[in-house]
This record gives sequence, C-alpha cells and structure tokens, in this order.
Amino acid sequence: MNRRRKIYEGKAKVLYEGPEPGTLIQHFKDDATAGNGAKHEIIDGKGVLNNRISEFIFTRLNTLGIPTHFVRRINMREQLIREVEIIPIEVVVRNVAAGSLCKRLGLESGTQLPRSIIEFYYKDDALNDPMVSEEHITAFGWATPQELDDIMALAVRVNDFLTGLFMGVGIQLVDFKIECGRLFEGDMMRIVLADELSPDNCRLWDIKTRNKLDKDRFREDLGGLVDAYREVAQRLGILVEAD
Ligand code: C5P
Repeated sequence: MNRRRKIYEGKAKVLYEGPEPGTLIQHFKDDATAGNGAKHEIIDGKGVLNNRISEFIFTRLNTLGIPTHFVRRINMREQLIREVEIIPIEVVVRNVAAGSLCKRLGLESGTQLPRSIIEFYYKDDALNDPMVSEEHITAFGWATPQELDDIMALAVRVNDFLTGLFMGVGIQLVDFKIECGRLFEGDMMRIVLADELSPDNCRLWDIKTRNKLDKDRFREDLGGLVDAYREVAQRLGILVEAD
C-alpha cells in the first residue's frame, strides 16, 4: 500500500514526498506515450529498466562533477532525488539528424550534423511543447541569461560524456532531451540536471546493425522495446533482476 504523498504525476513517472525535507522519490512507471499522450501503452518492465539505466548515467555524471538531482536508487522502480525547481524548458541536443529535425528541415534521417545542435522547447502540453529560442526563454523569464548559459554548458558536458559512454558499447548517440532545475542550498542556487536519462529520451542506434534501441521502437510500432532497453542496460554492464 502506497501511503506517500504524491507531489506530481507525469506521463512516465510519479514524484512522491521524500523521507527528508528537500528530497523527493522519483517512481518510474511502465507507461509509454508518444505524440503528447495521443498514443499510450503499458509496457511491462520499461520502468525498471529506465530506473536502472538512469541511475547508472546520473551516478557517473555526479562522479564527474556534473551536478544532478540524483541521490541514490531505492528499489527497482524508485530513486531518491533532491527537490529542484524545474525550469520549464526541454533541452534537446542533436548529433545526427532524426525525428522532428528531419520533418522540420527536410533532412534525411541519419545525416551527420556539421556540429552538435542545441534546441529548446517550452514545456506546455496544451501548446504541444513548442520550439522556442533563447530570446523567448530570457524575455519571458523562464530562465535568466546566466542560467541559460549554465544549462547549455551542462547540455554540452552531458553530450560529451554520453557520446563516449555509448560509443564504447557500440551505440551511436543520435540525440537526447534533458531537463534542468534550480537546486537551492542555503543562500546558494545552482542549475542541476533533473528528470531522467534513459532510452525514453535518447535516440540510440546500434553502430553495426543500425537497429534502434530507444523509444522510437514504440513511436514507430517496431515492437521489441523492452528487449532493446535490456540490450542497452546489458551493454552498459547493468544487471537487471526481475521486477
Ligand atoms: O522528436 P524529436 O526529434 O524532437 O526528439 C529529439 C529527442 O528528444 C529524442 O531523443 C526524443 O526521445 C527526445 N524527446 C523527449 N521528450 C519530448 C520530446 C523529445 O524525450 N517531449
């Protein structure tokens, strides 16, 4: 029986009140959605895999001095995190053309980009998360210019780390999405990485076979999503026990 106070429920995760002030529990659900919730399925085991993969990545990032909200994993579906004030911007980093970039600019999927590109989307389901510019973000006060600099520096560091991590296990990091938050410590505030990093918010292609090992398997009705996520976990050396 779950008696903790629910703070927020999103499409793939729930946040509960944490054991101490300033902490929350992030719970990974098995729900998969696409098209802003237009398509929805429960995929057994997805939450467990994402919890483990995200734990692995956030732990490494913390060790490298890249600040995140992650404290530790609690169980198969939950992790303890620091409470942050989420900045209402989704930051997408792209190395290879795929998804909405191809639609928007008529590029062929798989085209190597001349350099990594950062894009921003305003988090608003009713508006379908529209793409916005740095000008919008600072003019409307969603983040200050300094915060935006910190967010972009964080995004670049995460991209460098993840590109190398996945390359080492035969996977190409095509693109990914991050969210950032403000962490308040006494009088201090700093920007930290929040949310999750998993095959739900990265595009991961097998370098040899070009197989998709990410949520595009669901978006494009390719099937085999859990097998693909398990493959990512296994290549990273993560042992995933049964739920
Ligand atoms: O759809 P699009 O090509 O813009 O997605 C870019 C990257 O951001 C993909 O890795 C996708 O999984 C991720 N993304 C996400 N959540 C969204 C939109 C995109 O995780 N709401």
